[in-house]
Amino acid sequence: MSSLGDSVKLPCGLVFPNRLAKAAMAELLAGSGNAPTPSLLKVYDQWAKGNWGAVLTGNVQVDVNHLGSPFDPALSDEYTDPETNKGLLDTWSKYAEASQQHGTPSIVQVCHPGRQSLRFAGRRGIFASPIAPSAIPLDMGDGFFQRWMSWFVFPPPREMTQADIDLVTRQFVDTARLMADAGFSGIELHGAHGYLIDQFLNPKSNIRTDAYGGNAANRARFVLDIIRQTRAVVPPTFCIGIKLNSADYNSSSFEDTMTQIGLLNEAGIDFLEVSGGTYEDPKMWDPNHSQPQKPKSTTTATREAFFLEFASAVRTRYPSLILMLTGGFRTRAGANYALSQNACDVIGIGRPAAIDPAFADRLLDEGLGEDEAKLNLGRVKMPAWMGWIPLRAVGAGWESSYYTQQIQRIAKGLRTIVPV
Ligand SMILES: Cc1cc2nc3c(=O)[nH]c(=O)nc-3n(C[C@H](O)[C@H](O)[C@H](O)COP(=O)(O)O)c2cc1C
Repeated sequence: MSSLGDSVKLPCGLVFPNRLAKAAMAELLAGSGNAPTPSLLKVYDQWAKGNWGAVLTGNVQVDVNHLGSPFDPALSDEYTDPETNKGLLDTWSKYAEASQQHGTPSIVQVCHPGRQSLRFAGRRGIFASPIAPSAIPLDMGDGFFQRWMSWFVFPPPREMTQADIDLVTRQFVDTARLMADAGFSGIELHGAHGYLIDQFLNPKSNIRTDAYGGNAANRARFVLDIIRQTRAVVPPTFCIGIKLNSADYNSSSFEDTMTQIGLLNEAGIDFLEVSGGTYEDPKMWDPNHSQPQKPKSTTTATREAFFLEFASAVRTRYPSLILMLTGGFRTRAGANYALSQNACDVIGIGRPAAIDPAFADRLLDEGLGEDEAKLNLGRVKMPAWMGWIPLRAVGAGWESSYYTQQIQRIAKGLRTIVPV
C-alpha cells in the first residue's frame, strides 16, 4: 500500500513528491484586468511552502469574454509565441515561479464556463449569450423565482456553431501552450462541475445531433480534440490532467462516463481527478450528498471521501490510470483510508488548504498524532434571511465565498478563520 509521503510518477515523467495535492480553488484575485496580480502571487507563496505533492491553481478561463466570476484570471488575447506576447509571458512566468519556488510542481486548471457564465462576468456584454453545446438553460429549480433568478444570473446559452467549437478548442490549446512556456508543470482541464467540457460530456446539456453529440464517444470529441491538439504543441514532459464529475450519474450515464474515461485514458491523460456536482446540484461542497443506488457508507473514514466508491469503480476498469480523489478529506486517517482501499493515487484537498496553506505538511508530519493531523471544519453558517431564498445554489455559493475570503486573507497576511 502506498503511503502519503510516497512520490507518484505520471506518464509524462512529472513526479509529485508526495500524494497530497492542493485542489483547484478560484481565488478571485485577478482584479478587473483578469491577470495574475501581486495578491494572487502572495497566496501561492504560501501554498508553495506547504509541502504539497502538487499545487493546482484556481481555474484560469481560456476566454476573457466568458468568465465564471468577474475576477477570474483569463486569456484576453491570442497567444502566438514568446517573442510576440512577451508581456503576457512575463506576467504568467511570475505566477509559475511563485507557485513552484520550493520545487512543488504547479498545474494550471484551464476552464471555459459555457452556460455557467455569470451575466455580469466577462467582457462579452450583459446582453450577449453565453455559449454551450446545446441551447439548454441552467435549471436552478421549477418555481417562478428560481427560473427568473437563473435567467437573470445565467442568461440562456446559444448553441455553439462549428466555428465556435474550433475557436474554443484553439483557446484551450493556446492557454496550455502559454502555461508550458511560462514554466508551469502542466494543465488540468476542468471537465467537472457543469462547466463547458462537462456540458459536452453530459447528455442532459448536450443534445446535439452532429459529430459532437448522440452517444458517449461523440460527446467526448470536444475534449479529446483539445487533448490531441494540446499534446501536439507542448513538450512531452508537460502534464495534461482532467477533472471529471462522478456523482450525478444514473445507471445508463454511469456506463457512458466509464466509456468516456476509457477514451480519455487512450488519449494519454496523465491523471484523472474525480469530483462531482454542478451549480444546479452542488455536491462538491456537500458532505451529506449520497450517490444514487449506493448504500451510505458507515465508517468515518469512508464518509470523509465524498466520491470514493466511484473512484474505486474507475480503478477497477482502468487500473493504470493515475487517479486523484477530491472532496471531503479532513484527516490523515481519511486520506490513508482512501489509499489503503486503492481508490486513488493522489488525495485532493480544497477547503482545508484555504484555512491552512501548509495542511499537507501537517498530515505528513510524523511527529503529529492522529488527533492533530486533521482539521475540523464546521458548516459555514448562512445569515438566517438567506434561508428564505429558495435556491439550492445559495448555500453552496455562501460556503464557497467563505473560503474565497479565507484565501484572500492569506493574500493579505491575515490569519484565517476556521468555521465552527
Ligand atoms: C473557494 C473555492 C473555490 C473553488 N474553485 C474551484 C475551481 O476553480 N475549480 C475546481 O475544479 N474546483 C473548485 N473548487 C472545488 C474544489 O476543488 C473541491 O473539489 C471541493 O472544494 C471539494 O473538496 P474539499 O472538500 O477538500 O473542499 C472550489 C472550492 C472552493 C471552496
